[in-house]
Amino acid sequence: MQSLAAVDQDFFARFCAEWRQRVDQSLAQHTAYGPDCPDRLREAIRHSLLAPAKRLRPLLVLLSCQACGGDPERALPAACAVEMVHTYSLIHDDLPAMDDDDLRRGRPSCHAQFGEATAILAGDALLAHAFELLATHVVPPELAAVCCGELAQAAGACNLVGGQQDDLLAPWATPDLAHLERIHRRKTGAMICVSVRLGGRIGGATQKQLAALTSYGQKIGLAFQIVDDLLDLEGQTEAMGKRVGKDAKKGKLTFPSLMGVEASRQRAGELAAAAEAVLGSAELDSKGLVQLARFIVKRSM
Ligand code: IPE
Ligand code: IPE
Ligand code: MG
Ligand code: MG
Ligand code: MG
Repeated sequence: MQSLAAVDQDFFARFCAEWRQRVDQSLAQHTAYGPDCPDRLREAIRHSLLAPAKRLRPLLVLLSCQACGGDPERALPAACAVEMVHTYSLIHDDLPAMDDDDLRRGRPSCHAQFGEATAILAGDALLAHAFELLATHVVPPELAAVCCGELAQAAGACNLVGGQQDDLLAPWATPDLAHLERIHRRKTGAMICVSVRLGGRIGGATQKQLAALTSYGQKIGLAFQIVDDLLDLEGQTEAMGKRVGKDAKKGKLTFPSLMGVEASRQRAGELAAAAEAVLGSAELDSKGLVQLARFIVKRSM
């Protein structure tokens, strides 16, 4: 007989394989676009969006919905919407004016392939499309409005964009752990947390469940960016599909630069464990989310 742990791992592996494929198909369908979308723009959008990626945020939407007893199918449009916002943020993050990266998801980054102007526009289009998807595919309309509001807040000036702004200025700021955590919470954590929340809302989460999911999302959001910082130091370009060693060159404020590799790894592990623990408090079917928290800290890509 399989152990309980093996059953959970098996569930997670099958869930991810099936739903990653569904997300990829759905993203491809949504970005076929009619003749009013210029071919070059369509190509640029699809080049970045449909490139091989972990689809972590969509999986969080779908698993959170499932954890509340909802049908993940209903959460698929929201899963695609968060991936669109995320991909827009990557396209803009790679621009010469920002991190100046020429490789993303194993492909030339969007501006490296299509030029800066088209890359900016591809990002703009993806950001707008995300809200169209939520507004037109989430039912009832009241729930769609709540999802639009939450995603806009996570993507906006006080979260993703604000975090990115402070990340750019961090090399000139006083290196300080509270400041670094505030950057990570906004630039990366907010999108991860809202993914969990949208899935919970669409899955019919109770207030108690939504609170537990939010706390889980905050913890894994920070853990995720700590591991991203570690992988920039220790990861392999081949596996990651993006260049490594860039943070040090750019003088970025990162966890390993501030507290060292070992303490950073330990902090990420503690956060993931705390994220798991918080799920136990709210009568959720949390086996998938537990596995995902573990994946975040042990990943090599
Ligand atoms: C990379 O995100 C950017 C960060 C927020 C650290 P992912 O590591 O989820 O990248 P993809 O989506 O798999 O390409
Ligand atoms: C980016 O963080 C977070 C975003 C909002 C896109 P990084 O700049 O560290 O992400 P990578 O390492 O380029 O993927
Ligand atoms: Mg960056
Ligand atoms: Mg970057
Ligand atoms: Mg990074």
